Amino acid sequence: MKTDTEGMLARLVLLLAVTQSVMLVMGQAVTGGGSWRLLLENAGISTMHTAVTRFNTVIFLDRTNIGESQISLPNGRCRNQPQEQKATRDCSAHSVMFDPSANTVRPLFIFTDTWCSSGQFFPNGTLVQTGGDNEGLRKVRTLNPCLASETCDWVESNSTSLQNGRWYSSNQLLPDGRMIVVGGRQIFTYEFIPRRAGEGTFELPFLRQTNDVQNDNYYPFVHLLPDGRLYIFANRDSILLDYGTNTVVRTYPRIPGEPRNYPSAGSSVMLPLEAGNNYTDVEILVCGGARFGAFHNSRAQFGASQTCGRMLVTGSSPQWAMEDMPTRRCMGDMILLPTADVLIINGAQNGSQGWGFASVPVLNPVAYVPGNAPGARFLTYRASTIPRMYHATAVLIPDGRVLVAGSNTHQFYTFTGAFPTELRVEAFSPPYTAAVYSSRRPRFISYPHQVRYGQTFAVVIGLATAPSNGTVVNLNLVSCPFTTHSFAQGQRLLKLGVTPPVATGVAQQYRITVTAPPRATVAPPSYYMLFANNNGLPSRAVWVQIS
Ligand SMILES: *[C@@H]1O[C@H](CO)[C@@H](O)[C@H](O)[C@H]1NC(C)=O
Ligand SMILES: *[C@@H]1O[C@H](CO)[C@@H](O)[C@H](O)[C@H]1NC(C)=O
Ligand SMILES: *[C@@H]1O[C@H](CO)[C@@H](O)[C@H](O)[C@H]1NC(C)=O
Ligand SMILES: *[C@@H]1O[C@H](CO)[C@@H](O)[C@H](O)[C@H]1NC(C)=O
Ligand SMILES: *[C@@H]1O[C@H](CO)[C@@H](O)[C@H](O)[C@H]1NC(C)=O
Repeated sequence: MKTDTEGMLARLVLLLAVTQSVMLVMGQAVTGGGSWRLLLENAGISTMHTAVTRFNTVIFLDRTNIGESQISLPNGRCRNQPQEQKATRDCSAHSVMFDPSANTVRPLFIFTDTWCSSGQFFPNGTLVQTGGDNEGLRKVRTLNPCLASETCDWVESNSTSLQNGRWYSSNQLLPDGRMIVVGGRQIFTYEFIPRRAGEGTFELPFLRQTNDVQNDNYYPFVHLLPDGRLYIFANRDSILLDYGTNTVVRTYPRIPGEPRNYPSAGSSVMLPLEAGNNYTDVEILVCGGARFGAFHNSRAQFGASQTCGRMLVTGSSPQWAMEDMPTRRCMGDMILLPTADVLIINGAQNGSQGWGFASVPVLNPVAYVPGNAPGARFLTYRASTIPRMYHATAVLIPDGRVLVAGSNTHQFYTFTGAFPTELRVEAFSPPYTAAVYSSRRPRFISYPHQVRYGQTFAVVIGLATAPSNGTVVNLNLVSCPFTTHSFAQGQRLLKLGVTPPVATGVAQQYRITVTAPPRATVAPPSYYMLFANNNGLPSRAVWVQIS
């Protein structure tokens, strides 16, 4: 109780300190907190799919059938793709590796079309990327990530392929280290990668049932619950799926308001899982969306959804609790921050997904603070100057900033019109990254690089001032999702069980005993970012492999 209050007070003080103009409007703090920085004027591509690797590098990936990008393949290399729709000979790159420490990119080679594809990291840190359009529809591509100074690249298998062609599907890493690939355009099945001998695809009628006339069930929101089952949300409905037996074990109430998936483009997160309740209470948050019909009547530019729904999906009689966001938003990205708040960033106030189908960009990110009372959960942060519309992405990077890149509301690279194809890369720095706090952010002195399920382990944290009695320094474990089309596939955050910090005898150094996630259903085996979080101020992350 005491630490919660302290945390809330610290957050309030922090916001008061950061912003010039804090007003309280109807109980909601409205602030100009946070800051934006342009990192790179021209990334060469407009990224549609983005993922952060355990080497702190970031993979950007666009479609291949957009003609020439603005970055060449190295050493005069060209792509001669006989099935390419736009240009069969193309010497430009459609994927790059971004280095946030130098703000540079290195071109990567992609052979088959990745348009509207999906992905996830394998437990060993390899990025797996599936499907796409045309010749890429059944492709499985892998990239063993590397340091920015090294030369890793995509490998496209000719022997492994998806069983169903998949465009607009969602992937989730599973407790057994495989990944599930769910749905896609007019595909009402799921399958696994790698697949077991003789294993086929599995019918999921729920995907057919949620496929209305504007196909509001693409990129379903898939979340692995700590009991090992999958929560799947499509259009306005959701189910609990036991994928092992292909059984729908639960059907949830329909969310009020608008459709929430592509092309209506809300977003969703599983709220932080907590050791404090033995990882048993799971809440799903779904925010934004577009008015039904907005896709088929794009000239009307209907106002987007302004609501979020939150539901305890492990409860005995789950109901959606609805809340209003400060503004309408479709195509927002929802990103779990190291503080366990949810950042909602990017998108537009009117229209829907689709080329040129949206207007009125939402330039202000907002934070949703799950632990605050309803009505006081949203904080509005400083606006960017760059609209991030259709095909934009956002990812959390290990230093606590949120990298924002992409936005292409045109079929090809078009640098004219209201929303030109966007090649600029920015970072949004939440208020906790402000220079005034840098000495007060916790830092890791020592930690294990690898931990097993259920293991207790020690970390040593540097704290500038002695923690007061009763202070808890939280250790939050954050996965690296594959972000595309306003949904971060495989995103999860765990608040681990910790003991209070104990002085080590070395000045400003404190030991904390931490309990690893109990089992693979709570945190599938993978590399995670581990953040220490003291009174609303997170450390930089360290990488820990959970196995
Ligand atoms: C990770 O596992 C995959 C699948 O088994 C394999 O293709 C890949 O080479 C492995 N990556 C590394 C870095 O060992
Ligand atoms: C797959 O086939 C393409 C086209 O023939 C070839 O260029 C590529 O090297 C092959 N990939 C692998 C991993 O063998
Ligand atoms: C925590 O949950 C697991 C799995 O449901 C269960 O086996 C264990 O007994 C629970 N522990 C406590 C302390 O409730
Ligand atoms: C956006 O939607 C709002 C709410 O329906 C409406 O008042 C406004 O005129 C729309 N803006 C545009 C540019 O169409
Ligand atoms: C911390 O608080 C506990 C309980 O209030 C008390 O028993 C303990 O002596 C305190 N420790 C210190 C170092 O003040």
